[in-house]
Amino acid sequence: MAVFEDTDLFRRGVGESTDVVSKEMYTFEDRGGRSLTLRPEFTAGVLRSVLENGLHKRGGLPVKVWTTGPAFRAERPQQGRYRQFYQLDLEAIGSEDPQVDAETIAIAAGWYRSLGLTRVRLLLNSLGCRECRPAYRARLQEFLRGLDLDEATRARIEINPLRVLDDKRPAVADQLGGAPLMADHLCEGCKAHHDRVRELLADLGIAWEDAPRLVRGLDYYTRTTYEFDHPLLGAQSGIGGGGRYDGLSEDIGGPPLPGIGFGLGLDRTILALEAEGAEFAAPPRCEVFGVALGEEAERKVFSLVDELRRAGIAADMAFGGKRLKGAMKDADRSGARYAVILGERDIAAGSAQVKDLEGGEQAAVPFPEIVTTLTERLKR
Ligand code: HAM
Repeated sequence: MAVFEDTDLFRRGVGESTDVVSKEMYTFEDRGGRSLTLRPEFTAGVLRSVLENGLHKRGGLPVKVWTTGPAFRAERPQQGRYRQFYQLDLEAIGSEDPQVDAETIAIAAGWYRSLGLTRVRLLLNSLGCRECRPAYRARLQEFLRGLDLDEATRARIEINPLRVLDDKRPAVADQLGGAPLMADHLCEGCKAHHDRVRELLADLGIAWEDAPRLVRGLDYYTRTTYEFDHPLLGAQSGIGGGGRYDGLSEDIGGPPLPGIGFGLGLDRTILALEAEGAEFAAPPRCEVFGVALGEEAERKVFSLVDELRRAGIAADMAFGGKRLKGAMKDADRSGARYAVILGERDIAAGSAQVKDLEGGEQAAVPFPEIVTTLTERLKR
């Protein structure tokens, strides 16, 4: 996936009225005078790439893709909010089926669960579609215009009134009690879709909270929208979010192609893991460490380390022609469970010494059996 895109993609896709596009993009000109932007989010670029490579024409919709990497937003940095942050992004493009909504939500919820997080909340809403939202939007604007609001918020009513609903400042939030909600103004199709998604989530045993004021900061959302929130994270508590974007493909010049996906914030997920004190086993840094005594042994161990890696074992070796004592120190420091030690006498015997660095036992293993022996032993 490209880390930067044509600025226009985000203007059209994410929307000029969003903070992300109007205030937070890292935009620059390249040598050819083209305006480029470091991706503030993945969805628009993923869809652009799917369309450009014709993945949607190969049959078997929805196209399911995922990717991960950095995204960039020029926000004021604070705990949990960074200018370069990392997301795990997943998109299912080409289906309106509510089962896909529930499926993607289940994948995200399962991911948090698999990391050991237990306090993640799922907030769910429907933002309607291009049929029912305009009438709701007008109704909301009417309501908001009657409130006592500051200049900037009044301006927002005209550009992006749904965003005002999401305003957490007490001076605004306190007046929003009677605001009309999208959930009460969904058209029949959107209501049926939303009800089905909730039924499916219930079938899957996934708990959620209806969040009728959840809006999200990107303009492309339609119907299902959701956020994963973590109660121990303070102001930046959104650890992931997603939703449908049934009109986005057309907005960026593609065919009608409904889609849904999510972006999980990796930085904030790590903060959530720390806050919960969740522990999970890190992959081993090194499992087998090679120790070679002499030039010929070094050549053999060098190849053996490569073979072990091909077999999926994390392997390393002592470099720089170290003597036994120094090399064994390296082996201990590496955290490896086993050392494979090879001296001249072993070469002559066609075997190597495999030493269990935890228990201390050591035994000669013939060369052709070293990889299988270690694979077996590491399984235990
Ligand atoms: P988003 O809610 O803007 O959605 O971002 C997803 C997640 O990225 C947030 O929940 C948060 O955890 C993390 N995040 C956002 N900004 C920052 C930041 N400045 N510092 C640290 N973490 C941050 C999207 O980006 C959509 N593209 C998600 C999506 C995919 N919707 C449909 N498909």
